[in-house]
Formats: sequence, C-alpha cells, structure tokens
Amino acid sequence: NPNYPKMEGSSGLQQVSCRAKGGAPGFKVAILGAAGGIGQPLAMLMKMNPLVSVLHLYDVVNSPGVTADISHMDTGAVVRGFLGQSQLEDALIGMDLVIIPAGVPRKPGMTRDDLFNINAGIVKTLCEGITKCCPNAIVNLISNPVNSTVPIAAEVFKKAGTYDPKRLLGVTMLDVVRANTFVAEVMGLDPREVDVPVVGGHAGVTILPLLSQVKPPCSFTPEETDYLTSRIQNGGTEVVEAKAGAGSATLSMAYAAVKFADACLQGLRGDASVIQCAFVASQVTELPFFASKVRLGRTGIDEIYPLGPLNEYERVGLEKAKKELAESIQKGVSFIKK
Ligand code: NAI
Repeated sequence: NPNYPKMEGSSGLQQVSCRAKGGAPGFKVAILGAAGGIGQPLAMLMKMNPLVSVLHLYDVVNSPGVTADISHMDTGAVVRGFLGQSQLEDALIGMDLVIIPAGVPRKPGMTRDDLFNINAGIVKTLCEGITKCCPNAIVNLISNPVNSTVPIAAEVFKKAGTYDPKRLLGVTMLDVVRANTFVAEVMGLDPREVDVPVVGGHAGVTILPLLSQVKPPCSFTPEETDYLTSRIQNGGTEVVEAKAGAGSATLSMAYAAVKFADACLQGLRGDASVIQCAFVASQVTELPFFASKVRLGRTGIDEIYPLGPLNEYERVGLEKAKKELAESIQKGVSFIKK
C-alpha cells in the first residue's frame, strides 16, 4: 500500500536514535500478540524501559484495552495500540525492534511441536508484515515451537529478499533464566550472580545447559547434573502442569523477554560486550540454526561464540539435541517451501 504514512527514522539502523513526542531519545519497539499472557506483562515492562521511546501494541483482540491501561503509566515511552490484521502494517512501520509472543500456548500433555500447525501460520503472516514495513528491524521471536518458527521466519524473509540472519533471534532466554535460578538453589548462591550458558534449541532435549561452564565455576555431582539438566529441560512443562490448562509460562517469560530485548537495545545503542544466548542462524554446528552465546551490536548479532569445551555428559546431550533440532528446523523450512 503506497499510502502508508511516511515515518521519519523508519527502518535504517543508522537512524534508530529517534526522538519521540515527549523528547525522550530511544528506540521504537512493537509487540505482536501484546494482549496475551506474555504480551501484557511484556508490554508493561517495556513501557518501563528507558531505552524505549515508542511502544506499539498489536493483537487480533483486546489491544485497545491493554494500550489504554498501559498508556497511563508515567514513563517516557509513547504507547499506541493496533487491532486486527488491517492495522498490522501501521503497527510495524518504522520499528527498530519487533517482539513476537503471538500464538497459542501449551496445555498439559502437549509438546511445543503440537503448537506448530496454528503458530506457524501466525508467524508467517506477521513476518510478511515485517518484510514490507520494517525489514531492517531486529526480530525477537518467542512464539513456539521456536526451533521451527525461527526457520519459518528466515524462509519468509528470504522469499521477500530481506533476510539478514544477524537480525533474527529466537528467544531462549527463559531457559537461561531458569538455569540460573535452579543452579543457584542447588549451590546456595545468589541467582543474580550465576551465569549458565544454555545452548541447542528451545524444547525438551534440545535445551542443553552447559553446567561445566557455569560462572562462578561450580562442580556438580552426577546426581546434581542429572537433576539440574532434567529440571532445566522440563521447566516449561513444570509451569504448564501447575497452571493445569490455563496456559504456559507468561510472567517469567515476560521477564526473560524484557531481559533479552533490553540486551538487543543496548547492542543497538552501541554498548560493548552485550552477550546473551539465542537461537540463531549459525555455523557453530553443522545445523543451519543453533542456540549459543551471541554478542549483540548496532546491526544485531555481531559475533556468535563457539560452544567451548564440553564434558562427556554434554557431548552425549549435544548429539541428542542435534537429532531432534534437525527435524524441527526442517519442518519449519518445509512449511514455507511446500
Ligand atoms: P496467549 O494465548 O495468552 O497469548 C497469545 C496472544 O497472541 C493472544 O492475545 C492472541 O490474541 C494473540 N494472537 C493470536 N493470533 C495472532 C495473530 N495472528 N496476530 C497477532 N496476535 C495474535 O499465549 P501466551 O501464553 O502469551 O504464549 C504466546 C506464545 O509464546 C505461545 O506460542 C507460547 O508457546 C510461547 N512461549 C514461548 C516461550 C519461550 O521461551 N520462547 C515461553 C513461553 C511461551
């Protein structure tokens, strides 16, 4: 549609340092699926983020209410709401960062892959909007199954000729957040001081915590290693079962999403040494996508770090993870190519 309002500072990462109505310097951020269980607390926390000058809240239901509510918070970001497919493009024009928690969550007994049929189509539609309206934006993809939705997004962007692998990041931050918490509990540490790299993907055995690389250095008994690995891999299911049909992790996910989005914005601002784990296009293994530590910069991912030395337990885990990941990635790619 050639009648889109021309927004100054749109796309181009060089122009990201914009001025909003209130004069606050910052970035323009859109949340797609903003009225959902994750979307609402995520929108609230992003409204509190001093790096955000404009916050667009898009959903197919209830976004006007969430927008009105959040817009009363006396923080810097200007909030605008967008409802339904016809407003998707206006929600996306000029955005520096797009965060996507749209889609259905798991119920007890479901795997993340069971969500594929519904969420694949939702992610495809939203990514088509991104190619048209903000092809240079950084994309944080939360919708599950992340192991397949990230390859779907990549294929949509490739088809449109706008794909930049440095700008597409699957959000695995909740696995790191859980790992830090559970390791801190076992070791009697403050979780804020624990850093556990979690690599691979974001589902079951593809979630591979590297306990041999925990900071501060810890040594675990074989029982502790088993317990922690299994609890980190099944953290999502723990919440799904406790919620008993009412959905999956939303509050801890919103916290993790904001931690990750904030790192992306710090990178865009030019901060040095901003490092987080994410599921990205990668040459760290033979698979086309893999989660590992990445350094975030002015154009998205500046560097992808290798896995580092693994112990035998982790090497076995890596083989299992790669097998399942390969299938999930292929499933995503075929969804677009078919
Ligand atoms: P929810 O059902 O509470 O919210 C989803 C929102 O997406 C709803 O408001 C819905 O209206 C909206 N939506 C549906 N179709 C849409 C479309 N075409 N365009 C825009 N919005 C649309 O679900 P919840 O709990 O917020 O979870 C969202 C997604 O996040 C799920 O796929 C879930 O599996 C995933 N998730 C990912 C995690 C991760 O670590 N990456 C952790 C937890 C959940």
